[in-house]
Amino acid sequence: MIVTAAELFKVAYGKFAVGAYNINNMEQTHGLFRGAIQSQSPFIIQISRGARKYADKRMLEAMIRAAETIYPEAVFVVHLDHGDEATCYDCIDSGFYSSVMIDASHEPFEKNVEITRRVVERAHAKGVSVEAELGMLGGVEEDVKVEEGHACLTDPDQAKEFVELTGCDSLACAIGTSHGAYKFKGKQSIRFDVLQKIQQRLPGFPLVMHGSSSVPQSEIMRINAAGGKLDPSACGVNDNEYLPAAKLGVTKINIDTDGRLVWTRVHREYFRDHPEDFDFRGPGRVFMTEYANFIASRSEKLGSVNTL
Ligand code: G3H
Ligand code: 13P
Ligand code: ZN
Repeated sequence: MIVTAAELFKVAYGKFAVGAYNINNMEQTHGLFRGAIQSQSPFIIQISRGARKYADKRMLEAMIRAAETIYPEAVFVVHLDHGDEATCYDCIDSGFYSSVMIDASHEPFEKNVEITRRVVERAHAKGVSVEAELGMLGGVEEDVKVEEGHACLTDPDQAKEFVELTGCDSLACAIGTSHGAYKFKGKQSIRFDVLQKIQQRLPGFPLVMHGSSSVPQSEIMRINAAGGKLDPSACGVNDNEYLPAAKLGVTKINIDTDGRLVWTRVHREYFRDHPEDFDFRGPGRVFMTEYANFIASRSEKLGSVNTL
C-alpha cells in the first residue's frame, strides 16, 4: 500500500526513523520489498532524477506497481529524491508519487523559499507530501559536486523560519553527513549539537538526514579483496547513531551508497568465484537475498522492526 510521507511520519516521529532507499533496477526493488517485509517495517522507495533517466521513469513506475501487487503487505512511500522544480511537477502530476523532494538548497535562502512554496502549493493540492532542504551537504548528488569547504550546516533559526514560510512537510538538514562513501575523517560524526538545536526550534516537525550510509569497512575490504580499488579511508555514519538521531526528530534516513556496496561486493565475489559463468541471474539471485538481509538489518538499527 502506497502512503504519504506525512502519514508515516506521524506514526514514526520521536520513536523510530523510516529508511529511505534509492532504487534503479528490478533486483534492488525485490530486495527492498523482501527485506522490509522480513522486518515488518514501512519504508520509503526513492527515485532520483538519475534513476529516472537510467531506467526510464515509466519502467520504474511499472516495476513498483508490480512490486505492490507481488508484496501486498508492504507499506511504503514513493518519493522523488533531490528533485528540481520541473521534475517535482512531473511527479506530482503523474498521480504515482506520494512524496517529492524539492532541493533548492544551492539557491540563496529567499529563492529556496520561493521555489519550495510553489512546489508545496501544487503538491498539497494533490495530497502529495513535500520534503525541502536547507543547508548544504558535501559530496556528490545528481550532477552537483559540493566540495567539503562549500558544504554548510543548517542554521537552526533559519530552519524554523524556512518551515514556517514554505509549509513543507519535512526538512532535510545538513548536520555533518555527506553523500557517497567518504563522509568523515578521524573522529567526525553526526553533529548532534546542531540537530538538537534544530529540534528545539521545530519540536514535532519531521527532519531528514541525507548521506546516512554506514559504509561498512568489511564491505570495502571484501570488494578490494575481489579486485576492487576503493580507497580504504572510506567511512560512513555509525549506524548506532540512527536511533539517537530519530529521538531528536530525524524521521527519514536516506541510504543509497550502502546498497551500491552490497551490489559491488556480490558481483565481484561471484565472478571471482565462478570465472566460467556469464549468466547475470547467478549474482542477481545472491544480490536480492543479500540486499533483503541488509534492509532488514537497517530496520533494526532504525528501530522500525515490527511497526507495520
Ligand atoms: O543523493 C543521491 C543519491 O545517492 C542518488 O544518487 O543521483 O546517482 O541516482 P544518483
Ligand atoms: P548515501 O550516499 O549516504 O547513501 O546518501 C544517500 C542519500 O542521501 C540519497 O538522497
Ligand atoms: Zn541525498
